[in-house]
Amino acid sequence: MSNIHQELLTRPTFVEIDVKKIHHNFNEVKKITSGQKILCIVKGNAYGHGSIEMAQEFQKLGADYLGVAIPEEGVELRRAGITIPILVLSAISNRQISVCIEYDLTITAPSDEKLENINSTAMQMNKQAKVHIKVDTGMGRIGVNWERAEKFIPVMNQSKNIHFEGLYAHFAKSDEVSEFNDIQIERFDSVISMFKKHGYNFELVHHANSGGILFHNSNYSMVRAGMILYGLFEGIQIPNDIHLKPVMTWKTEVVYFKYIEPGTGIGYGHRFVANKGTRIVTLPVGYADGYQRAMGVSGMVIINDNLYPIAGRVCMDQMMIDIGPNGEAYKGDEVILVGRSKHQEITFFDIARWSNTSIYELLSQISYRVPRLYK
Ligand SMILES: Cc1ncc(COP(=O)(O)O)c(C=O)c1O
Repeated sequence: MSNIHQELLTRPTFVEIDVKKIHHNFNEVKKITSGQKILCIVKGNAYGHGSIEMAQEFQKLGADYLGVAIPEEGVELRRAGITIPILVLSAISNRQISVCIEYDLTITAPSDEKLENINSTAMQMNKQAKVHIKVDTGMGRIGVNWERAEKFIPVMNQSKNIHFEGLYAHFAKSDEVSEFNDIQIERFDSVISMFKKHGYNFELVHHANSGGILFHNSNYSMVRAGMILYGLFEGIQIPNDIHLKPVMTWKTEVVYFKYIEPGTGIGYGHRFVANKGTRIVTLPVGYADGYQRAMGVSGMVIINDNLYPIAGRVCMDQMMIDIGPNGEAYKGDEVILVGRSKHQEITFFDIARWSNTSIYELLSQISYRVPRLYK
C-alpha cells in the first residue's frame, strides 16, 4: 500500500516529506495534550505521507498508539516491524476478526453483536482479543447509540476472551463552533458513568480528533491526532500559540516546451484555445497521480517563482501550462504544485478550493505512482 516501487524513485513527479516537521507537529500535539496518551492516525497511507515511514517516525517519537482504518493497513505495519499498539478504527466484517487477533491489532466493537463474534473467534483461536468499544455520541457513523450503550454490558460480562481496553466516540463538528461538541461530550460522560456503574473502567478513553484536540479536549486518557500531525487543519482559526508546519510539498518538472499560434486548441475537448501566440509547457503529472481533473479548472502551478495557469483539462498522466508569450521555462525546470518559492505559494487548501473538495480527500488520493521522498 504505502511503498512505491524502487524504480519510481527517479520520477520527476514526487512529494517531499519533511520529517523534522512531523517531529515538530507531534511535539505541538504533546504540548497541548499535556500527559494524555497520543494515538497517531496513519490510515489512508498516513494521509498520503506513507504509512510505514510515518508509523516508524511516530513509534520513534514515543506515540502510544497508531490508528488505521482497515485491518490490512495494520497487517502491513506489523510486517514492517511496527510493535506499538494499533487500533483498527472502522467496522470490520466477521471474516476479518481472526487476522486482527493474529496480528495483535486492537478491534473496534461498534455493536454487541460484533463483540459476540470477536469473542467466539478469539475462543476458537485460544487467544485474547483486544477491543475498544465504540459508542455513537452524535457522529452517526458506527457505534451503539449513547442512550443504548448499556446493551454492551451482558455480552461484555460473558466475553472471557476479550480484553476491554478502551472506549471511544467521534466528533461530528469538531472543526466548527457548535454547541453540539459540548452535547457529544456530555453524552460521552454519561456513557463512561454507566460503564463505571457496571464495573468497567477503561484504561483508554478517547473522543478527540484534531479539532477535538484543538478546541474541545476533555482530558480523557487518550487523543486521536490525524491531520494536525501532518501540519494542516481545515476549519476554524487555530489558537495563536499552536504552530503547525505543513509536512508535504509536491513537485514535478517541465518535460516539454512549445510555442503555439493564436487559435490553437490544447488538450481533450480543446477546453483551452490560445487567443494570442503563447508558450505551453507539459508536465508529467495527472489525475492518476491524484492531481484531479477538477483542479485544472482554475488551477495554477509555480515555475521559476511565477504563478501560471493550467491550460485545458488535466489528463490522466500529463497536463499543460500556459506560460504566456514571454514566459521562460525549459525542460528540466522545477515546477511546484504545492509548496512555496521565493515569492509564491500554493497550499493544499488552494488546490482543495480549486477542485471543490477537502484536503483530506486530496492527500489520501495522491497515488502510489508518486514517489515519497523523505528529508
Ligand atoms: C475515528 C477517527 N478518529 C480520528 C480521526 C482523525 O481525524 P483528524 O484527521 O481530523 O484528526 C479520524 C479521521 O477521519 C477518525 O475516523
